[in-house]
Amino acid sequence: MISVIPAKAGIQALNGNMTSHTIQTTQLDIPPGMIHLGIGQPDPSLLPLALIKDAAENRLSHDDASLLAYGAESGDGYFRRALANFLTEHYHKTVDADDLFVTAGASQGLDLICTLFTKPGDTIFVEEPSYFLALHIFRDHGLNIIGLPMDEDGLVVEALEENLTQHHPAFLYTIPTFHNPTSITLSAARRKQLAQLGQEHNLLIVADEVYHLLAYDFAPPQPLGNYIDEGRILSIGSFSKILAPGLRLGWIQTNQALHHRLVKSGLLESGGGLNPFTSKLVQSVLELGLQLDHLRNLKTVYGHRMAFLSAALQRHLGSSASFSEPHGGFFIWLRLPEQIDAEALLSEAGQHNVGFQPGVRFSSRQSLKNYVRLSFSFYDTPELETAAGRLADILRNNL
Ligand SMILES: Cc1ncc(COP(=O)(O)O)c(C=O)c1O
Repeated sequence: MISVIPAKAGIQALNGNMTSHTIQTTQLDIPPGMIHLGIGQPDPSLLPLALIKDAAENRLSHDDASLLAYGAESGDGYFRRALANFLTEHYHKTVDADDLFVTAGASQGLDLICTLFTKPGDTIFVEEPSYFLALHIFRDHGLNIIGLPMDEDGLVVEALEENLTQHHPAFLYTIPTFHNPTSITLSAARRKQLAQLGQEHNLLIVADEVYHLLAYDFAPPQPLGNYIDEGRILSIGSFSKILAPGLRLGWIQTNQALHHRLVKSGLLESGGGLNPFTSKLVQSVLELGLQLDHLRNLKTVYGHRMAFLSAALQRHLGSSASFSEPHGGFFIWLRLPEQIDAEALLSEAGQHNVGFQPGVRFSSRQSLKNYVRLSFSFYDTPELETAAGRLADILRNNL
């Protein structure tokens, strides 16, 4: 996911006792001393190895070899039931296991949606800005990407309506809650408007809701998953942000017609349901109540880091940068003075041992050059403090 560091040395960040030149086992490769706030992943110390051991012991004690067979196309029924119970608690509305389709993570879900619902050259709508790696998936599928404006309440639904008079998009991709990169949450009123407009135009809405459960000091409005009976909505969720990304496990919540289309893909007919073994393991995580405890802890830790980084940025950057304090998710979206091109600062930042994602990567039209995305998920407060100081030094040199 993060490719800004030359991949070579190994995984010091994840396993301090490995020497450099070891075989690379994880995506990340961070030079010693570097604090890379571009990394939107969980801190290695928050990866729940003991919890997974307990769940594996529980699952394997069932002596049921069926978890090693090709899986049911929609995903294992017992896992989906456990997931539905978990989501029902958080969505404040009953989630039906039959409406859940198991994926190998949100990215795989997005790729499958592109395969099934688009052809090269089709137009899609996204928010401007949008999650840069989703844009990569869309480009892989040869899609024509049109960015729609956002304001402090999220996607501007009037702009969507206007664009629907000129284009016939294969779908709208939106990140309604704790948006990546802005952390903005679509208001309750806009969610209703969006669902209604989608229904009127028969618009396929792909709602990437991977941060919905990571609310720290504010309860977000209902997920778009709660609207699946009111139109063509695919609500994407993932265990990457709430448990562990290496599990490669997620879900799509949708109505029966769209569920049927997902299930009837060649991928599933040939390979069966996605990640059946991992699903059974996570079924135990859910049934033993371990997910709930883990999520509670993550929310405390991330909430603390979010408040800490916000304060540190205010202290170090003063009026030279501005941002809205997030209420959940992983990110702070920093606006720098107009004349600054954040991408051009990357090499100087590297020399100062600090990293970030420049705003232009999140733009479907090469814009947003004076923005940067900072993540508070990967580092604890001492590193966040140091990184904020280093960013301030760089900014001072360039103003
Ligand atoms: C908005 C968004 N969608 C999807 C993903 C990737 O999720 P997964 O690991 O489930 O593929 C991320 C991770 O950064 C994300 O921010």
